[in-house]
Amino acid sequence: DFGKLAKDLGMKAYAVGGFVRDLLLRRSNLDIDIVVEGDGIEFARTYAREHGIRCRFHKKFNTAVLIFPDDRRVDVASARFEYYQYPAALPIVEFSSLKMDLYRRDFTINTLALALNPGEFGQLIDFFGGQRDLKDKTIRVLHNLSLVEDPTRILRAIRFEQRFGFRIGKQTVALIRNAVRMGLLQKLGGRRLLHEIQLIMVEDDPLPPLRRMNEFAVWPVLSANILFDQKLEDLFVRLREVVSWHRLSFLDEPLERWWVYMLGLFSGLAAADVEDACGRLQFTAGQRERIAWAYRTVSGLLWGFFPAAEHKPSAIFRALQPFKPEELVFMMAKAQDETPRRAVSHYFHRYRHVSTELKGRDLKEMGVPPGPIYRVILDELLDARLNGEVKDRQ
Ligand code: CTP
Repeated sequence: DFGKLAKDLGMKAYAVGGFVRDLLLRRSNLDIDIVVEGDGIEFARTYAREHGIRCRFHKKFNTAVLIFPDDRRVDVASARFEYYQYPAALPIVEFSSLKMDLYRRDFTINTLALALNPGEFGQLIDFFGGQRDLKDKTIRVLHNLSLVEDPTRILRAIRFEQRFGFRIGKQTVALIRNAVRMGLLQKLGGRRLLHEIQLIMVEDDPLPPLRRMNEFAVWPVLSANILFDQKLEDLFVRLREVVSWHRLSFLDEPLERWWVYMLGLFSGLAAADVEDACGRLQFTAGQRERIAWAYRTVSGLLWGFFPAAEHKPSAIFRALQPFKPEELVFMMAKAQDETPRRAVSHYFHRYRHVSTELKGRDLKEMGVPPGPIYRVILDELLDARLNGEVKDRQ
């Protein structure tokens, strides 16, 4: 019904970008991007009013987001100008506004558009050879300045290449190498760089794109001392195994996968290098503290605490309780032998859910005078319960 509305408003609407690409690749993609030839904000506002859904605008960029009740989003952009002169030095080329909008995009495979208006619905529009490159499984930029305009595309190329099992085209490879050599990634703001690395780290299998980043000599942008060797690769393989284990075991429990891989990436660095890399990525003070703390404590647990003795469940509980799931998952992958792995797994499955049946309130009713003694009693009770010395009331 986007098409019908566009027609009623005297506009033309197209689905574009990743949505069309994934449609042709038969991959699911719930993010729909729409470009309208006309006023996208008016289009989105009318749609939202007619369907009783929420809508947000970016007046400055002439874009809007439709937000459906199930949280699905549809981005709407406007392509309003009727013709352009581009490139300036060549004779005037008349571009349709849609064509101009698509020309600004990153790779040919992302420039396909699907007409939505009635009468032409479903017609595929391919100005830049996107279909051919999809068929040839090639990632190709549209023009030589693409990566200069937006260096994040270096990382996007790697991400798409590995996700789809494509190859970056020869010319585009040369442009990437050149862009890296020219230090274009160094010029990128920390948040944007972090965002792109996060997107790579939440890919289904982050190892291939992370390895490819190494082939393109991208890592020095974070630290000269990241050594992408077999040891680090093995760690990433184990991290992925434990991340999958966590997902299957605790379906509803969120896990920030990028954080797990970031801990992995940093684990081979010296503390000062970790600090520099965090600075480069503009981590928040909270994130820096969390990294530094994990960096200091995890190895102490793995090589100090766990091998020292057979620990009671209560001791394991106390040792692991301060950690969030991401650090625990990292710990399991990093552990060299079975004992810590099993301990963390027990903690995940059992210990962390244990609590005392008795609460402070009950102690008060029993006539125990309030004070620090409460903590002591409840802690001891919890320990006894963890260690199986107190059983549930049946
Ligand atoms: N785009 C671009 N340059 C960028 C980022 C995005 O040209 N640096 C364009 C691409 O053409 C892309 C569209 O904007 O198709 C939307 O980008 P994004 O939201 O990243 O969507 P997808 O291509 O669908 O990527 P993903 O599948 O990872 O969501």
